[in-house]
Amino acid sequence: MGILSGKAALVTGGASGIGRATALVMAREGARVAVADRTEESAAGTVALINAGGGQAIAIGGDVTREVDVQAMVARTVAAFGRVDCAFNNAGVGGASVGPGAQRVHELSQASFDGMLAINLTGVFLCMKHELVQMLAQNAQDGGGGSIVNTASVAGLIGLPMGSHYVAAKHGVVGLTKTAAMEYAKDGIRVNCVNPGYVSSPMTAAAVETRLEAMMAKVPMGRMGTADEIAEGVVWMLSDKASFMTGASHVIDGGYYAA
Ligand SMILES: NC(=O)c1ccc[n+]([C@@H]2O[C@H](COP(=O)([O-])OP(=O)(O)OC[C@H]3O[C@@H](n4cnc5c(N)ncnc54)[C@H](O)[C@@H]3O)[C@@H](O)[C@H]2O)c1
Repeated sequence: MGILSGKAALVTGGASGIGRATALVMAREGARVAVADRTEESAAGTVALINAGGGQAIAIGGDVTREVDVQAMVARTVAAFGRVDCAFNNAGVGGASVGPGAQRVHELSQASFDGMLAINLTGVFLCMKHELVQMLAQNAQDGGGGSIVNTASVAGLIGLPMGSHYVAAKHGVVGLTKTAAMEYAKDGIRVNCVNPGYVSSPMTAAAVETRLEAMMAKVPMGRMGTADEIAEGVVWMLSDKASFMTGASHVIDGGYYAA
C-alpha cells in the first residue's frame, strides 16, 4: 500500500518538471490526482501518463494568479474526488518569463517585479487560501484536515544576484508557509515548503546551456538534481509519515545551502 493510499491530491504546475514528477509519484503512492496547469491540454499530458500506469487523475486548466480560476480548481478537485487531502502549490516561473531576466535591482521594471510576485507569491497565497477553506471543512466534518507543500527554493533562504524578484517571491513563500503552519496547527492541517536547489527542468534549460559550470561550482555534489528527487521528498512531506512536520523549509539541493 502506498503512503498516499486513499488520499485526494492537487498539484499546480503539474504539466511539467517538478510538478509532473510529483503528480506521478503521488499516483504511484496511491493518491487520486488533480493535475492543474495553465491549460487543461497541457495538464492532460501528465494525466495520460498517470492513467497509463493504472492511476486515477483529472486535468484542470487555470491561472494561479486569478482567484476565480483557483477557486474553480479546488472545486473541481472536490467534485471529482470528494475532498483535497494533499496540495502541492508548485506553479512558478523564472526571471526570463516576466522580463529580460538577469537584472540587478535598479534595472528591474515594476512590471517584471509585479509579474513575478503575482505568479510565484500571490499564486501560492490564493491556492493556500482556497485549499485551507476546504481542509477546515474536512476537519470539522471528519477530523481529516490536510497537508500542504508549497514550492519555495534555496532562493527563499539566501540571496541570488540578478534575481531579486524571484528571491523576494520565494522568501515570501517561506514566510507564508511558516505563518500558515502556526495558524492551522490545531486544525489538523500541516503546511511545509520544499526548497529545491538547481533541478533539470524546462525552467533551467537555458541557464544550463549558458552557465552550467558557474552554477555547479556552488553545489557540493556538483550536479543538477532531477525532478524525481524533489518529488520523492514532497510526497513524503504530504503523507502521514511526516505527521509531526509543519512550518518547515525542506532543503533538497545537493548541499548548496549548507556550503
Ligand atoms: N528547476 C529548478 O531548478 C527550481 C529550483 C527551485 C525551485 N523551483 C521551483 O519549482 C517550481 C516548478 O518549477 P519547474 O522547474 O518544474 O519548472 P517548469 O517550467 O518545468 O514547470 C512550471 C509549471 O508551472 C506552470 N505555471 C507557470 N505559471 C503558471 C500560472 N500562472 N498558472 C498556472 N500554472 C503556471 C507552467 O505552465 C509549468 O507547467 C517553480 O515554483 C520553481 O520556481 C525550480
